Amino acid sequence: MNKAKPVGNSKTTITELMIPSYANFGGKIHGGILLSLMDKVAYACASKHAGTYCVTVSVDTVDFLQPVEVGELVSMKASVNYVGNTSLVVGIKVVAENVKTGIVKHTNTSYLTLVAKDEMDKPVRVPKLILKTQDEVRRFVEAIRRKTLKQEIKREMGKAKSAFTIDLVMSHLENERCLIQLKA
Ligand SMILES: CC(C)(COP(=O)(O)OP(=O)(O)OC[C@H]1O[C@@H](n2cnc3c(N)ncnc32)[C@H](O)[C@@H]1OP(=O)(O)O)[C@@H](O)C(=O)NCCC(=O)NCCS
Repeated sequence: MNKAKPVGNSKTTITELMIPSYANFGGKIHGGILLSLMDKVAYACASKHAGTYCVTVSVDTVDFLQPVEVGELVSMKASVNYVGNTSLVVGIKVVAENVKTGIVKHTNTSYLTLVAKDEMDKPVRVPKLILKTQDEVRRFVEAIRRKTLKQEIKREMGKAKSAFTIDLVMSHLENERCLIQLKA
């Protein structure tokens, strides 16, 4: 039986300087660079808790609230917010710091789900999570809520897909910015 571990045990932060080769044509940092760093820090955090190799299963909505500039220091602060049987939800807060002005901006907070795997590549049970603060309890509960909502959305989208008929949706599209040009 693997031993329960506190959230603090696996908290992980990575900081990286945003160099010119990370920039897009508009001079801002590519979203993909940040996604890749998020995946790395989530892996480090989840595998520390699990004590095994982990794989990313799902990335929750990522909204970039503010652009990140070349020369800024980006820090990703990750902690395990929730554990299921073999899965873990890692919350990541991303901040970018302008070293000259000292201004720190919060660019996004996202949640990644990872699954712990054994040597045979099979999902393996992870240690329980010890919650020591009210914020840790709140994050755990929020993760359960997000999981339930995700399952509801999946069910609803499945129903909508099977109920789809072109006549049914035409009236909903009247005010949308699309031109429907179906071939007869
Ligand atoms: C995710 C994966 C392990 C699921 O395997 P499976 O044999 O179907 O196992 P299960 O159905 O028992 O699911 C294992 C856990 O993953 C969770 N899970 C599966 N799909 C999920 C999804 N889309 N979102 C969130 N959690 C998910 C399950 O809820 C379960 O969690 P729990 O054990 O805490 O209850 C498997 O599909 C896989 O290995 N995917 C590839 C992942 C990968 O390689 N990622 C790297 C990027 S290429």
